[in-house]
Amino acid sequence: MPPPARSPGYLLTTLANALGRVAAARELQWMKQALQVGLPEHVPKMSIDTMVARRARGEPLQYILGTQPFGLLNLLTRRPVLIPRPETEHWTIRLSQTIAPSRDTPVSLLDICTGSGCIPLLLCHLWPRGSVHAIGVDISADAVQLSRENASICGIPTASGSDACHQNVFTPVLGDIFDSATWSSRLLLPPFDVITSNPPYISQEEYEGLSPSVKDYEDPRALLGDPPDSVDQRGLSFYHRIAQLTAEMKLLKPGGFIAFEVGEKQAHDVRRIVQDEAGIQDTEIWQDPWGKERVVVGRS
Ligand SMILES: C[S@@+](CC[C@H](N)C(=O)[O-])C[C@H]1O[C@@H](n2cnc3c(N)ncnc32)[C@H](O)[C@@H]1O
Repeated sequence: MPPPARSPGYLLTTLANALGRVAAARELQWMKQALQVGLPEHVPKMSIDTMVARRARGEPLQYILGTQPFGLLNLLTRRPVLIPRPETEHWTIRLSQTIAPSRDTPVSLLDICTGSGCIPLLLCHLWPRGSVHAIGVDISADAVQLSRENASICGIPTASGSDACHQNVFTPVLGDIFDSATWSSRLLLPPFDVITSNPPYISQEEYEGLSPSVKDYEDPRALLGDPPDSVDQRGLSFYHRIAQLTAEMKLLKPGGFIAFEVGEKQAHDVRRIVQDEAGIQDTEIWQDPWGKERVVVGRS
């Protein structure tokens, strides 16, 4: 026999002890709504008591409910794939308004370290039909699988079919961007019109100080910006690698656009890497909604 259900007062108090009263009331409401509407297929059936117990132990709400809004999309979320963040959503929308592809002037887009696929999928959703073919590369099989499922629930095809010119297409690719074999894939054919990336950018020192709700649930590979043997431990290794690839493999078309999300206080270092190592001089820095320098953008 299942244990008797806890009273609403008990659930609220349990959550409030972990989150504070205001957040607890709000999240309890969301949990009830999610149960009423029905959880996504990939989320095992559970009671509100289980949801509250998991949340009170520090698990992110998005992993419990299995979704996270991102622009107009409602994306699936699943451990250990990084939960899309609001700052990424903000600049992705801004980018969609900065570049204006059309069916007559379509663009190719490469999203490096694609995770849930949030960046290319939102762009595929916002740009006109038939105006973009996006490719997302990631080292994690969990991420590639989730990005494929996200494309499916967003109605974005993942293989170019006969009517591809009438649709926006997203192709997820499994690969390590530090491994040269990844770049010989027939799916990754440079040059691209647009390169986006929100790579891992947390230094080891910062990682130690992250909250358990991040460190215990999200893939360390999605967070740590430097291989352990890297001489420079400031979280910048992925930017150096992407800049090197851009220069050596001519990843970007002339007149092409890049947008790289950066961590706190990294914007000027990354801008220098983009200029000196990728050879893209025309750069600017975008702030996030909280006034932090968050994205380095550039035009070749
Ligand atoms: C910060 S997360 C970003 C995910 C997604 N773009 C977003 O904004 O939510 C970084 C992603 O990089 C992937 N990653 C880490 N190392 C990688 C590598 N060497 N090659 C390709 N992808 C890598 C991780 O699996 C993770 O999904």
